Amino acid sequence: MARRFHIRTYGCQMNVHDSQKLTSLLLHAGLEEGPDDETADVLVINTCSIREKAENRLYSDLGELRAWKQARPGRVIGVGGCVAQQEGDTVLRRFGHLDFVFGTHNLRLVPALVAAAEGGERSARTEESRSLERFDLPRRHPDAGSDTPGRAFVTVMEGCDMFCSFCIVPTTRGREISRPAAGILEEARALVEAGVTELTLLGQTVNAYGRHDVRRGRTAAAGTLPFAELLRELDRIPGLRRLRYTSPHPIFFDDELVRAHGELEHLCPHVHLPAQSGSDRVLERMRRRYTAAQLIERAAALRRARPDLVLTTDLIVGHPGESDADFEATLRLVREVGFVDAYSFKYSPRPGTAAAEAAPDERVEPALAQERLERLQALQRDQTLAYHRSRVGQKTTLHLEGESRRPGQVRGRDPQHRVVNVADAPGRLQAGEYLEVEIVEATPHSLIGALIGATPGGVRPGRLDRTLQILPAS
Ligand code: SAH
Ligand code: SF4
Ligand code: F3S
Repeated sequence: MARRFHIRTYGCQMNVHDSQKLTSLLLHAGLEEGPDDETADVLVINTCSIREKAENRLYSDLGELRAWKQARPGRVIGVGGCVAQQEGDTVLRRFGHLDFVFGTHNLRLVPALVAAAEGGERSARTEESRSLERFDLPRRHPDAGSDTPGRAFVTVMEGCDMFCSFCIVPTTRGREISRPAAGILEEARALVEAGVTELTLLGQTVNAYGRHDVRRGRTAAAGTLPFAELLRELDRIPGLRRLRYTSPHPIFFDDELVRAHGELEHLCPHVHLPAQSGSDRVLERMRRRYTAAQLIERAAALRRARPDLVLTTDLIVGHPGESDADFEATLRLVREVGFVDAYSFKYSPRPGTAAAEAAPDERVEPALAQERLERLQALQRDQTLAYHRSRVGQKTTLHLEGESRRPGQVRGRDPQHRVVNVADAPGRLQAGEYLEVEIVEATPHSLIGALIGATPGGVRPGRLDRTLQILPAS
């Protein structure tokens, strides 16, 4: 019987997508995908180190997995992702039951590392590479199911050269590298031909795509394009209905990209625009390279280009040196831009980053940071609800994702990426279909829609895709 693997994934969409790539690599190598740890012979943990808590997940997981490994002879544990890249063979030395470690540039080595581990070898492969090879992975394996039929990620660039004061990503993902447009377009076309209707372009600073080539006048040699042009090419793929990208950096919203939001038919009216802070003093310390006024101006430009555009953001409270006045400036920015949603975090020092070196008297007390976080989140909750209320009575289209947490309902996303629950969905629906709805109710976390009609999304489901069985609403 084929050996079974299971992958645990933490972190951002880049990690989710890396796990998808890994799934295909392991399937191509003849392993089978198992549904959980219990049935697995090979367990891979894809880690995140963005905040201390995320990193600590790995250590608690590894502690617990001693028993898992002993329960059946021949079991193998591998660790990849951002903690692996950062720690290398230190993790291997610290945890005797760990078999292999692979870095963020070494996905393609994993089948060989599994085979070596099965022969009793322990190894760590975390060398960084500047090569484009990492983009040339084998096609998605037909048995690689999708949790979200009809939707797929496409990597356009990786790495980050921004070195924001607080952030570990430039260390864990290495230097910025942009993939030639031909490979991106070919992958996107193949996905759409296979039934995908919604593409999300991925990159740590996705709209920095090709910027180094543009600056050096070598786009032709590198095969890249300015980001807005890449979007234009992708928008033309017949059968594509939705095009998204994440995460952009505010300084790479040039006029071309803003214009694209007004012109491209399938580019969705949602931009996740990480602001981090509303205080110019803190933004400067963070090395974000924009002021609050510049961010507000870009947000306004995007909205002029696309009036129904929704902006969401990431914010950090308690960065070293953040005063009460700085924090108030963040609250003002949130109000002024009118963010519809925000991921907000308490600053977490990451070893080796500039902000982690801040003088002790500049640190913000954890209790104060917590208080700021709660105030910020309360403001954001009010804004989210107000936006949701403004949508009641409007018609929209949702891309069906699955069953809702609300019994008897289905859940999907509208073009603005808001969650919409539908109560009166017909008895048999498939994830990946599109539904026309009217918004009839607003809640703090989602919209409620009533069905107008259904349009087939042209989905050919993979092995793990489910036909949704809708229970009658009681
Ligand atoms: N590339 C993205 C950020 C990815 S990390 C960008 O530039 O926007 C996702 C979010 O985690 C960041 O936007 C930031 O808000 C948060 N984050 C990153 N490092 C952090 C740290 N040390 N402490 C707290 N939050 C952090
Ligand atoms: Fe981190 Fe800044 Fe790069 Fe985003 S732009 S990944 S926050 S260093
Ligand atoms: Fe985490 Fe690495 Fe993503 S640190 S947020 S998994 S790039």
